[in-house]
Amino acid sequence: MPAQSVTDDEVKAILAYIKVEGSKAPKGPVGPIGGDVAVTENKGTSPWTLITVILVLALIAMALGRVKAGLQHAMREKEGIPHPVVLEGAEARKNWIRSNKKLIAAILLIGFVVGSYKGWYALADIGIAQDYQPEQPIKFSHKIHAGEDKIACVYCHSGAEKSRHAGIPSANLCMNCHNYIKEGPKYGDAEIKKIYAALDWNGTEYGKNTKPIQWTKIHNLPDLAYFNHAQHVTVGKIACQTCHGPVEEYGYDEMKQFAPLTMGWCIDCHRTTEVPGMKDNGYYTEFHKKLAAKYGNEAKLTVDKIGGLECARCHY
Ligand code: HEC
Ligand code: HEC
Ligand code: HEC
Ligand code: HEC
Ligand code: HEC
Repeated sequence: MPAQSVTDDEVKAILAYIKVEGSKAPKGPVGPIGGDVAVTENKGTSPWTLITVILVLALIAMALGRVKAGLQHAMREKEGIPHPVVLEGAEARKNWIRSNKKLIAAILLIGFVVGSYKGWYALADIGIAQDYQPEQPIKFSHKIHAGEDKIACVYCHSGAEKSRHAGIPSANLCMNCHNYIKEGPKYGDAEIKKIYAALDWNGTEYGKNTKPIQWTKIHNLPDLAYFNHAQHVTVGKIACQTCHGPVEEYGYDEMKQFAPLTMGWCIDCHRTTEVPGMKDNGYYTEFHKKLAAKYGNEAKLTVDKIGGLECARCHY
């Protein structure tokens, strides 16, 4: 240790100080500096333990209240004091509240604890829009179009087979049919007229006063994640319904976000779904030899084995 600019007396004083102050310091580990404290997740006490304790305490309080009332009753009997007047109606209720403050406090406390518990899980769901089902500017029914009339999904969402986005059809596409179909089974011409208004169509010609139909977007992955429809629909051969639910049964305003669209959802499927056409897809012939060497011929070749869990495939 290099020479210090303190005298021996000062050193003694410092040591004495440390001794006195040190004995005041808390015993045991004080956070990460206090020794080898592992950083563990604080799981906390389960709310249900708390609720049980509170319930038991409330019961004890009620039982004690009964005993007290009984004792008072006995005292009055002994001293010949008349019993209190029996109250009725609103007065009785007020009196009940006045004499059961502890019970009411316990109920409120339990309500608070349960509320916090539920609230915690509600917060954990933030950012997950599963089942989001907004109202749309035109009462469009997938049940009529994709279900009853059996129009192929990709007739309207033509991007799904060849590009990243499936896309929403333009009003022009609707006109392929609604040029002629001017009334619907439920709303008559009221809803179909909105298509005409968007295109400024007067029944014979298009005007200049067009304004796009403002469909409310339902699915919306954050920008940090990359998802490609063609890869899943055309290469992966996954049916739209696997990710979007029984769309052909969704009636007016019933289109919704069927899947959670979380990272865990993507990963789970990549872990369990086999890559289709491994053996007959030219692109995979070479690749397959390597994989077979690595995982064996019989192994299930799931998406994770071709890199489906690599961060950079979905984030870049
Ligand atoms: C006649 C055209 C048409 C057909 C056929 C059609 N859709 Fe749609 N689809 C639309 C329109 C218009 C919207 C926007 C209005 C809405 O959300 O209801 C839409 C919305 C959607 C959405 C939600 C888009 C968003 O905002 O996130 C999905 C998913 C979808 N369609 C899937 C399908 C599937 C799967 C099929 C086949 C079973 C299908 N669609 C058939 C026209 C069509
Ligand atoms: C391939 C043909 C076709 C296309 C394309 C098409 N529709 Fe339709 N649409 C129909 C048929 C058929 C009906 C039902 C008519 C009936 O049953 O009376 C219908 C009915 C409707 C109705 C009436 C609902 C009711 O019950 O009143 C609306 C609104 C509608 N379509 C909106 C759209 C919109 C918006 C688009 C474009 C995104 C579109 N359609 C594209 C064929 C089509
Ligand atoms: C593997 C799951 C999966 C399959 C299969 C799938 N989708 Fe999607 N779809 C998604 C996800 C995830 C989004 C959200 C994409 C985003 O926000 O970038 C989406 C969004 C959409 C949208 C909203 C507009 C857009 O392009 O973002 C439409 C419409 C749609 N899908 C239609 C279809 C149709 C039609 C098919 C079948 C031909 C299909 N999807 C197959 C997962 C899937
Ligand atoms: C229903 C099952 C399923 C779901 C859900 C799913 N995928 Fe996939 N995904 C596949 C399959 C199958 C393939 C393999 C396609 C192929 O053969 O290239 C694939 C391939 C991919 C690839 C290419 C991987 C590679 O190594 O070539 C990316 C990137 C991808 N998915 C992203 C996503 C994202 C992002 C999500 C969630 C928003 C998602 N996937 C949800 C089934 C799924
Ligand atoms: C198959 C596709 C896929 C793979 C592989 C993947 N992710 Fe993700 N990741 C997603 C999607 C989709 C989201 C957005 C989900 C959401 O908003 O809930 C996401 C979100 C995230 C987020 C943001 C979370 C948030 O709360 O906003 C982080 C950080 C992340 N991923 C890290 C990683 C890391 C690190 C890896 C590699 C070990 C990885 N991801 C691999 C699809 C993927």
